[in-house]
Amino acid sequence: MRVHLSPRSPLEFTGDLLVLGRAQGAAPSPLEEQLSEALKGALSAKAARARFTGAAGQSVSVDTLGLLACARVTLIGLGKEDSWAGLAVRDAVAAVSRAAQGERAAMVCAALPLRGARLYEAALGLRLGVYQFNTCKSADPEHPPHELTSVELIDTPLSAAAAADAAADAAAADAALARAEITAAAVKLARDLVNEPPNVCTPERLAGVARDLAAFEGVGVKVLGRAEIEALGMGGLVAVSQGATREPRFIHVHYRPALPEGVAPRGSLALIGKGLTFDSGGLSLKPPKSQEDMHIDMGGAAAVLGALWALVRLRPDVELHGVVGACENMPDGNSFRPSDILTMYSKKTVEVLNTDAEGRLVLADALHYAAQLKPDAMVDLATLTGACMVGLGTNYCGLLSDDDALAATLLAAGDAAQEKLWRLPLDEGLADTLKSKRADLTNLGGPYGGAITAALFLKHFKGDRRWAHLDIAAPTTASKDKGATSAGATGFGVLTLIELARSFERPLPPPKDHASL
Ligand code: BES
Ligand code: MN
Ligand code: ZN
Repeated sequence: MRVHLSPRSPLEFTGDLLVLGRAQGAAPSPLEEQLSEALKGALSAKAARARFTGAAGQSVSVDTLGLLACARVTLIGLGKEDSWAGLAVRDAVAAVSRAAQGERAAMVCAALPLRGARLYEAALGLRLGVYQFNTCKSADPEHPPHELTSVELIDTPLSAAAAADAAADAAAADAALARAEITAAAVKLARDLVNEPPNVCTPERLAGVARDLAAFEGVGVKVLGRAEIEALGMGGLVAVSQGATREPRFIHVHYRPALPEGVAPRGSLALIGKGLTFDSGGLSLKPPKSQEDMHIDMGGAAAVLGALWALVRLRPDVELHGVVGACENMPDGNSFRPSDILTMYSKKTVEVLNTDAEGRLVLADALHYAAQLKPDAMVDLATLTGACMVGLGTNYCGLLSDDDALAATLLAAGDAAQEKLWRLPLDEGLADTLKSKRADLTNLGGPYGGAITAALFLKHFKGDRRWAHLDIAAPTTASKDKGATSAGATGFGVLTLIELARSFERPLPPPKDHASL
């Protein structure tokens, strides 16, 4: 799909669909008046009949029947004018591109207020809105695949006040459109990986995605197989994967920005992802209903690989490590057992009380590996606990950290990315629930605060590094199409990690002591 910014009048557009907007409660713009007149009042009549007020989510469409050079016109509600920014733009424009694709339009023109960050958001929304995962379906002759081929964006300020904002110069506009193309493709990659069934998206598939990154300047990729993982003594990853016939993979992607001799990168960041390509629960087997979705248990790995896919192209002035522990958790005669005591990569011992609390075992080894790389900070992403979904609902990701400054940096990155993060307390008062009589700790906390006890477990393996944990069990998937996200995988985390890496170009504020943490 080609997306470009054009200076011409929307009235000159000759393609399939022209989209224009109206802010909530506002009078029709001169453009809308002109179009309505050309259409002999059809647009204004339909808008009045539909009680169109400009509220976000509203839209009315009319066929032009030869009265205009384009085939169809759609008027969309932009919501309140001051909220027409960020997610409102992304979601509204995504809904338009989804509808346009549904109508089999190929050439679309959108005349919308696009000053500032809105151009990037609009281009991102356009590209995300048309996302579909069809690769496992046979072609349907009645609905052959269809692609939106070109979208022309025309910056159309709603009011004189808005027009006073500087319009993007051509270079800034090109940069925003190019960045949207990269970040949208990264989100698409993460969505595809999560949507793929576990017999397709295997640990080796994740390793293959990582290996492809080695083609970029400054990128090194290391992939370890079962023998090497065993030889290193990664007891968590070895145990979780030992019931599966598919081999585990331990993946390390390293990006170093190209800098003049003697100049160090501005900061370094390790991104760590849980890559359970299928989580049956192991011997602590999940009931069938709960297994149905457990191909999504590599959502953290997908977010890390997706973000790196974008970052090796955007080339921030920051050293990056992507670390993924990838395997399946399966029941078998060779499975690890409740009551097994594992010696982890860090040499700490863990008594297994539930083989379904496997993600923390894999992450523990990945965190210990990453800590030895001595990054300024480590952030792990994992579809770790159902408890986090119970606590925060289906849209928010839980953020847990003992480092207020890093947590604040992550919350700001989430805001910039328009992804929802909510900080939960890393309550040391629950630390006792992980105590074991037979080992250094157990992998199962008490009955309450499951997202917190999982994070407390991980904290034992962060070494002396600054660290934050994102529990993305809820937002990794969505139950229905909504704005820029579609039913199924969302690619959650990719955009936040890209923003986070960019924010590491500035020094991270020092950690503060936090009395309650
Ligand atoms: N992968 C699951 C968590 C999960 C549940 C992700 C639902 C997405 C949707 C994780 O491995 C798991 O099984 N967690 C257990 C932990 C428990 C045994 C302490 C859980 O949440 O029930
Ligand atoms: Mn599990
Ligand atoms: Zn899991």
